[in-house]
Amino acid sequence: MYRAKITGTGSCVPARVLTNADFEGMVDTSDEWITARTGIKERRIAGEGESSSTIACQAAENALEMAGCAAHELDRIIVATITPDTPTPSLGCILQTRLGAVNAAAFDVSAGCTGFLYALSLGDSLIRSSSCEKILVVGVETLSRITDYQDRTTCVLFGDGAGSVLLERSESDQGILSTHLYSDGSRGELLYIPGGGSAMPTSHASVDARAHYLKMDGNKVYKIAVKSLYEAALKALEHNNITSEDIALLVPHQANDRIIQAIAKRLNLPPEKVFVNIQKYGNTSSASVPIALDEANRQNRIKENDLVLLDAFGSGFTWGSALIKW
Ligand code: ACO
Repeated sequence: MYRAKITGTGSCVPARVLTNADFEGMVDTSDEWITARTGIKERRIAGEGESSSTIACQAAENALEMAGCAAHELDRIIVATITPDTPTPSLGCILQTRLGAVNAAAFDVSAGCTGFLYALSLGDSLIRSSSCEKILVVGVETLSRITDYQDRTTCVLFGDGAGSVLLERSESDQGILSTHLYSDGSRGELLYIPGGGSAMPTSHASVDARAHYLKMDGNKVYKIAVKSLYEAALKALEHNNITSEDIALLVPHQANDRIIQAIAKRLNLPPEKVFVNIQKYGNTSSASVPIALDEANRQNRIKENDLVLLDAFGSGFTWGSALIKW
């Protein structure tokens, strides 16, 4: 039986930093409020000439370099994003050309902040069930391009970034042990972008109404996120007949430090077993888990054969978990 093993990780964030203090001059907020309610201190914002493809390309190259894999060896490129460069062609295809991955079929997956786990799960299935041997999985967002900087309830939360992993077919027992994915479309309007799609095509009126920006009922989302993230994590433990004591590192979606701490507490995980970098990047949606995974990997927070638990929740609603033997 084949396993999909992560042989390389990479990430990239734009150089431009937007601090909490910067927001104090833009909307009615404070560093104190943002820090206390979210744990975020700063986030990265794409500059001129940057877009999802530019940062995704760098994150992908970093992962390929770590794995010692040439782009032409890739069978698939799966990109998780809600902020592709253009509605079509896909960001996957743009990346395929930029990387020179001439033998890869490439496409995008849209599942909000759970996007990377959806893409990872698909990559895992393709490796275990088909002829694919090397799959690049990328999570990338330039949320700054869909953030309403006049809306204090959302603008302080989001940032831009990209993370990537290379999955390789392996005959060892290391790799992705399980993935569990869930959706509930009935509550989609608690976190959505009303305009810019086929239901409300972009027009002067839609732009004047600021309908092309992300809207969120944060308080309602918060409660559902905590419950869903906990249940998805528990499912991974139960499915693999392990307890949280067996987990070496939890790498959760970085939406709010209070959510992360609530999950850690319910799972009885000490702080050193929970990876947190939200203070530096805010919520980068599909990119948050792979950026955190890459930082944890490069900081040697993960050792060979460690059990690493990924956990995410996002718009849709979507949520899920993945357990990896490193
Ligand atoms: N600065 C100052 N005050 C603010 C700000 C701000 N930036 N934003 C909101 N407030 C005010 C509100 O207006 C409200 O004031 P009121 O009591 O006078 O009405 C008060 O602060 C409390 O607002 P709440 O929304 O109840 O604050 P809460 O503690 O819930 O924190 C937050 C808000 C940070 C958004 C939180 O609810 C959260 O993190 N939600 C979950 C986000 C999430 O997980 N999203 C999923 C993934 S995102 C994706 O898929 C793209």
